[in-house]
Amino acid sequence: MHLTDQEKKMLDGSYGEPVKKAMQIMVALGEGYGAEKMLKVKNVHMPGASIVVAGEAGTAFVEEMEAKGGSFVAMTTTNPSCIDPERWREMDIKEKDYEIQSRLTEAYAKMGALTCGTCTPYFIGNIPRRGEHLSWGESSAVAFSNSVLGARTNREGGPTALAAALTGRVPAYGLHLDENRAGEALFKVTAKLKDITDYGSLGYYVGKKIDNGIPVFEGIPQSATWDELKMLGASLASSGAVALFHVVGVTPEAPSLDEAFQGKKDYPVIEVDDDALEEAVELLNKEKSKDVHWVVLGCPHLSINEIQEIVSRIEGKKVHPDVTLWLLTSRPVKAYAERMGYDKVLYEAGGSFICETCPVLSTTDSTAEAKGFTSLATNSAKLAHYAPGQFGIMSFYGDLGRCIEAAVTSKWR
Ligand code: F3S
Repeated sequence: MHLTDQEKKMLDGSYGEPVKKAMQIMVALGEGYGAEKMLKVKNVHMPGASIVVAGEAGTAFVEEMEAKGGSFVAMTTTNPSCIDPERWREMDIKEKDYEIQSRLTEAYAKMGALTCGTCTPYFIGNIPRRGEHLSWGESSAVAFSNSVLGARTNREGGPTALAAALTGRVPAYGLHLDENRAGEALFKVTAKLKDITDYGSLGYYVGKKIDNGIPVFEGIPQSATWDELKMLGASLASSGAVALFHVVGVTPEAPSLDEAFQGKKDYPVIEVDDDALEEAVELLNKEKSKDVHWVVLGCPHLSINEIQEIVSRIEGKKVHPDVTLWLLTSRPVKAYAERMGYDKVLYEAGGSFICETCPVLSTTDSTAEAKGFTSLATNSAKLAHYAPGQFGIMSFYGDLGRCIEAAVTSKWR
């Protein structure tokens, strides 16, 4: 592949050992995918920010890069870590895991990352422009940035995102290229989409059908919000491996059906009706008892609008003594919630915020064991999908109203 003089210098070690190693990773990746050149990136979202993903070996590697003088040349935000640094004891995180996680976060910070620990960096100011090349990891954030913002990234893993942050380069392949961004199947949505949970169910159903393809949606209203599209992308990326979707008349690369498919005509057409959404709900409701121990809202991390809706529904109610209610979000969004007084309403009801982490990226098996959780209720298709396999907890899945009712009664109805 063609490298510029500067990229060749990165590769020969002129910029130091970490950049050399990072450029070797980028070149190997580019050659593996047949890339002809590198693209400059100024924006990275780091997926390997939790020790659950990075492990001790990954933590040691990031520390080594930092100790050898590694410094990020692209603006870098971090995905959730394993802990809420202010509430890790209440989460029953083991001291040893807290220490390793703190080392990993500190190493990223020393290299220049904004260690915000959120999967919705676009709610706190990391909003790439349309057409901008990125190196983002975290499947829900990748789907959002490609589809809703019209930026361009492949689904990066920890090592490749780290290499991009150190070099400011990614190989030009996959979703960076126009020709790989055309829709591959049309989903005509006739189902009624009443709330964000329906968007999650829609994504879950379609993700199973299309796997890692590029779905085009017709029939989603123009009034669809970021929260709704966030939920759609997160679930598309959980039952499938979708990194890009188009919504005709809504997302930037799909002003028309023809543009969404880049002029192609021979695509399959699949209808998605109310029964399809119900099928997704059935699949995700894995828990067979009626007893709820834990209600988790905020996968992906909540926006201020979602928090406002949750507190308005819980105001004046009390969380059942047998239930723990967590709202997952980023620290800046929590600060907005405090400014609005939403925190007081939540605490009065008996719920709490957990920031900078989530059950999928935490050591939740030990948290659940310590707290006696055997079931979880959520309005997130992604969390309901991962909970049984990732930390052995069966899930109840339903809309926000059902989740709040479960928090108050400890029963799933
Ligand atoms: Fe975010 Fe964790 Fe869900 S990273 S999308 S809250 S699984």
